[in-house]
Amino acid sequence: MIRCKMSLKSRMTKCRRHLRSVLLFIYFSLLGFALFNYKSHCVYTMPDALLQMSQIGHSSEGKCKINIAELDEVKVDIFSEPSEKEIQAINPEVKKGGVYSPKKCQAWQKVAIIIPYRDRYHFLMILLNRLLPMLQRQQLNFRIFVVEQAGDKQFNRGKLMNVGYLEALKFDKFDCFVFQDADLLPETDKNLYMCDPHARHLASAINEMRYHVMYYNYAGGVIALNRENYHRINGYSNSYWGWGNEDDDFSARILESGLLLTRPPEHIGRYKMVRHKKQTRSDHGNEMFLGWRSRWMTDGLSDPDGMNYTRLQLEELPLYTHVKVDIGDPPAQMRLGNPDELVSLWWFLKFYFP
Ligand code: BGC
Ligand code: MN
Repeated sequence: MIRCKMSLKSRMTKCRRHLRSVLLFIYFSLLGFALFNYKSHCVYTMPDALLQMSQIGHSSEGKCKINIAELDEVKVDIFSEPSEKEIQAINPEVKKGGVYSPKKCQAWQKVAIIIPYRDRYHFLMILLNRLLPMLQRQQLNFRIFVVEQAGDKQFNRGKLMNVGYLEALKFDKFDCFVFQDADLLPETDKNLYMCDPHARHLASAINEMRYHVMYYNYAGGVIALNRENYHRINGYSNSYWGWGNEDDDFSARILESGLLLTRPPEHIGRYKMVRHKKQTRSDHGNEMFLGWRSRWMTDGLSDPDGMNYTRLQLEELPLYTHVKVDIGDPPAQMRLGNPDELVSLWWFLKFYFP
């Protein structure tokens, strides 16, 4: 009997010791995870904060009062097929070129919406049908640019953004640039299409990504930067042809230049993606990205060769300003970057770690 009690006691001690090591293991795992995953430059801010920031140092006399509480969630229909005429009819105040400015007050920022585009007319109509009323309710002064890549070579999203930025500046001295994919529809008017002093990633919750960012450094979909910041980070890289990584390269530039990546909280940064076949990553995508650091300063707005393009068409259509460009062909040799200056595998893993 006594022997049995002793063994029970020693078993309990052993069990307790075991439990302690399990708890310690969990504790250190969580600590390790948190340290590995720590991204101090990614922050969530409310649209109100965004408004306050743009008001610092400016007089609010005559400026529009935007009441976020009055802006609503909207049922977005990804299967609708609105025609250009129908969209025109419900947006009588929108002028030729996709231009609007509030009548009774002065908008805080002049915003250029840049939509890189090819072959997706149907998506474009669904998007304009959603954006035009929303941007008016947000009382913005805006112009919509649809930047179309001519030809059938691989799509170059980054270069189209840079072209859009330069072409927009020929129209007006815009304060803020919103780079918007054609297949993403904002689900609430509360998601202000304005810039803060950082880089504002507006698509913080896409339905196809289960309404979360896949990884904190994700900067794709829809992102807003002011004129100075876009220039400061040298725009997008011109070197990514085909799908993937150009937005990661852009995010790395934001991170490296010390800007925050700000986002609306997930209940505001909601987007629905119009259904389409998922594209596959270009062969060079990840390899190119490993060399982003050595290319950064010379690959972007500042690169006369990379920025070489011909404007084929410029027309102010009823709903948008159409800019069609020949951006050339992908080079025979990709600009992979200096092999001595590739980022480490550790950096790469940390970048994509959720
Ligand atoms: C790609 C990005 C893309 C993201 C989400 C990443 O792996 O590199 O370009 O936006 O996945 O689809
Ligand atoms: Mn897409």
